[in-house]
Amino acid sequence: MKTLLIVFHTGGVKTARMAEAVERGARTETGVKVIVKRCADAGPEDVLAADGLILGTPENFGYMSGMMKDFLERVFYACEGKVNGRPYALFVGAGQDGSGAVTSVERIVLGLRLNKVHEPIIGLKDLTPEILKNCEELGAAFAAGLAMGVF
Ligand SMILES: Cc1cc2nc3c(=O)[nH]c(=O)nc-3n(C[C@H](O)[C@H](O)[C@H](O)COP(=O)(O)O)c2cc1C
Repeated sequence: MKTLLIVFHTGGVKTARMAEAVERGARTETGVKVIVKRCADAGPEDVLAADGLILGTPENFGYMSGMMKDFLERVFYACEGKVNGRPYALFVGAGQDGSGAVTSVERIVLGLRLNKVHEPIIGLKDLTPEILKNCEELGAAFAAGLAMGVF
């Protein structure tokens, strides 16, 4: 059975609610094992064991959150060259922008040679039902893609 790892940080509630929606969608695919971890609790062994990775972070100071950066710093060299081509996706909880978080994460996962299989989802200001639905659909589509072996 394929494994989908969802790793996120939240300083409040928004990115956590987005993560819950992604997880809810992913769990509709029964053929995939879904693991959800906070950045602080996840490490290289989790990434190496996963067939796909979905990352979630707030945008802080025009960048990914410090906890997401810490997570990526801890996993980068341990995983470099060992996860080439594996699928990933990203969701961002932001106030009015979100693009800095996207750019900063994308630059790093480029170095890991991960394969972006979905455009980043950015939740701005107050979370709308539409954004949460998009997150749920992301989780479902990602998990289905893993189960069917399309990535
Ligand atoms: C220290 C700090 C810096 C922030 N910087 C940005 C920023 O650069 N761009 C932006 O769009 N929102 C920014 N925000 C707003 C957060 O991204 C937004 O509140 C987000 O929903 C937080 O997600 P969370 O509730 O999961 O922690 C910042 C918030 C904090 C606390």
